[in-house]
Amino acid sequence: MTCMQLTKQEQKMLDGAEGYAVRKSMEILVALGDIYGAESLIKVGSVQVAGVSYHNLGDAGLEFLNELAKDGRVKVLTTLNPAGMDLEDWRNLGISPDFAEKQNLVIEAFRRMGILVTCTCTPYLIGNLPLYGEHIAWSESSAVTFANSVIGAKTNREGGPSALAAAFVGKTPCYGLHLDENRTPDVHVQVNVKLAKLSDWGALGYAIGKRAENEVAYITGIKTVDMDDLKSFCASVVTYGAKPLFYMKGVTPGAELQIQPKETISIEQVDIKNAYDSINDEVSDIELVCVGCPHCSINEIAKVSELIKGKAVAKGTEFWVATSRSAKQLADKRGYVEIIEKAGGKFACDTCMAVAPLKGRFKSLATTSAKGCFYSRQNNMKTKMGSMEECVEAAVTGKWKG
Ligand code: F3S
Repeated sequence: MTCMQLTKQEQKMLDGAEGYAVRKSMEILVALGDIYGAESLIKVGSVQVAGVSYHNLGDAGLEFLNELAKDGRVKVLTTLNPAGMDLEDWRNLGISPDFAEKQNLVIEAFRRMGILVTCTCTPYLIGNLPLYGEHIAWSESSAVTFANSVIGAKTNREGGPSALAAAFVGKTPCYGLHLDENRTPDVHVQVNVKLAKLSDWGALGYAIGKRAENEVAYITGIKTVDMDDLKSFCASVVTYGAKPLFYMKGVTPGAELQIQPKETISIEQVDIKNAYDSINDEVSDIELVCVGCPHCSINEIAKVSELIKGKAVAKGTEFWVATSRSAKQLADKRGYVEIIEKAGGKFACDTCMAVAPLKGRFKSLATTSAKGCFYSRQNNMKTKMGSMEECVEAAVTGKWKG
């Protein structure tokens, strides 16, 4: 028995008329709707499914997916988050054949469901681009924050199972950030800092996330920003805070129309310095340099190739460029892949430093990403965050300068 108003067709799905996967999915969606007080389900335009790495799923997760894949087929455009390895070049990243075998079974299960095996956390860069105001059901916190705050789509921060359930049903419970009344700003954040490099956006996300926590921030004072800055900021603000929605004046569609919140806080240069101090550990020898969290855009790959051209990655250090397979294909056509690989860099397509099985392999990491540092610390690595220039420098010297 549910408190939600189900249509006749939804009730039939819940009763099992469309098979096991749809029935299970309806059970998940109805349970969620009841917990959060949703009155009904709403249609979604697309789904992004996280929980793809076998490292996190284990055998129980694989079994669950195989059960669903027997008769479950997605009803809307559905894309996948990064997996635990590069699906083609996993040996080059030091992944074991046993892990690869299991990871491939996970991917096969998703493929049978009709999901596009995109394996990227930047679905909006490779063809899953929602419309302004469109309801979607995405998991992956950085992508959810980008969709809500940069594009102006509407999604809660789904977990892997609830996103998958929405894909099989084509709907999600209407609560939380699907409702306009929950999308109004709570706090005005005045930014009074100079943002000079990509990692400064991660530091800003840290500073705002820590201060605003679970409140919707209305951010002013940003002078210039590009797509790469925004994806880095989105990843950081939700990692160190909690709310996958902000309004940024000059960026978020309709930000200027929002009612000004009563509370105002400001972010000063000292907050950025404190963010770096908290994110950076005491370490100088760097064993892994990984850029691309969220996954590198074609512009970022171009920048890496320009910086590393004619140089060589230091012995004892690995340099990974994490990106989507589509971005790598594009980079290949422009000659960037050849330059980076000639220097000893490796492409980590389909995966990333957080979901690959890296625990125990590297003791230290340098990256451009505040979110990357957060998850790498959970893998027992000491972390350094800096610009793309500083990261490439660390890759070719094996040392962190400064
Ligand atoms: Fe993407 Fe992995 Fe970072 S999923 S946002 S590259 S932690």
